[in-house]
Amino acid sequence: MAQRVSIVTGAASGIGRATALALAAQGDQVLAADLDGDGAARVAEEIAAAGGSAAGRAVDVADSDDCARAVADAAALGQLGALVHVAGMAVADDTVEQLSDAALERLLAVNVGSVFRLSRHAIPLLRAAGGGVIVTTSSVHAYASMPANAAYAASKGALVALTRQMALDLAPDGIRVVGVAPGSVDTPMTRAALERMGTSAEEAGFDASGSATAIGRVARPQETAAVLAWLTTPAASVVNGTTIAADAGLLARLV
Ligand SMILES: NC(=O)c1ccc[n+]([C@@H]2O[C@H](COP(=O)([O-])OP(=O)(O)OC[C@H]3O[C@@H](n4cnc5c(N)ncnc54)[C@H](O)[C@@H]3O)[C@@H](O)[C@H]2O)c1
Repeated sequence: MAQRVSIVTGAASGIGRATALALAAQGDQVLAADLDGDGAARVAEEIAAAGGSAAGRAVDVADSDDCARAVADAAALGQLGALVHVAGMAVADDTVEQLSDAALERLLAVNVGSVFRLSRHAIPLLRAAGGGVIVTTSSVHAYASMPANAAYAASKGALVALTRQMALDLAPDGIRVVGVAPGSVDTPMTRAALERMGTSAEEAGFDASGSATAIGRVARPQETAAVLAWLTTPAASVVNGTTIAADAGLLARLV
């Protein structure tokens, strides 16, 4: 069988980077896309050094032309089979009163609009191939949140609905659409959020977020990536239209 091509956004860092590595280890050719083009190229080099196959691209997932180009670049590598949306952002001062229109629009464009923009170009290729998989990255914040997280939580809730909707619309084409809702993962995004809360990961020992999980610690990016990568495989053929929590039991705890 020809090697499947998969696109991973947000591939320069954290969960996206780990997902790109996991998909390459599964045998995919990976197009590692990120706003940080140098970081994406480094991840592609890392994959190549491990014997895999990858290309890194500078892509702003909020930009339509960039998204079209990224899908075309992936198609030039071979048969596209999976599109894994991981790129996302959070912002400071994230309350309805504080957030400016510009900050709100940027966050929604990156966290939600990106799924429309990239998928729009990828779907015809997946359809022509007889099917494929699209994965979105939501968050536990779609279901339960914390103060000052308005736009981020709204964007992650929108992804749950969008994933369900796309699964229905694309099922006739053999395209499965699934989401993952990570809990707290040790990535630069989480560390930055802790700093915004006036602490550091070191000071917190990640206890602030980790102690709320059933397993008593935050997840490593590789653990979250393993779920994302598995969802793209035929083993997950009956997981469709839903967003599954990979949250180490964070949502399970009431007190
Ligand atoms: N870390 C967590 O605890 C956690 C929990 C739940 C959900 N998530 C979600 O997982 C995803 C990855 O988060 P992470 O923690 O690995 O973050 P991260 O900050 O380590 O990585 C995010 C990556 O996305 C890239 N990116 C941001 N804006 C982009 C854009 N416009 N175009 C292309 N790339 C862009 C960044 O350059 C970065 O490389 C995000 O969608 C995030 O909301 C993270």
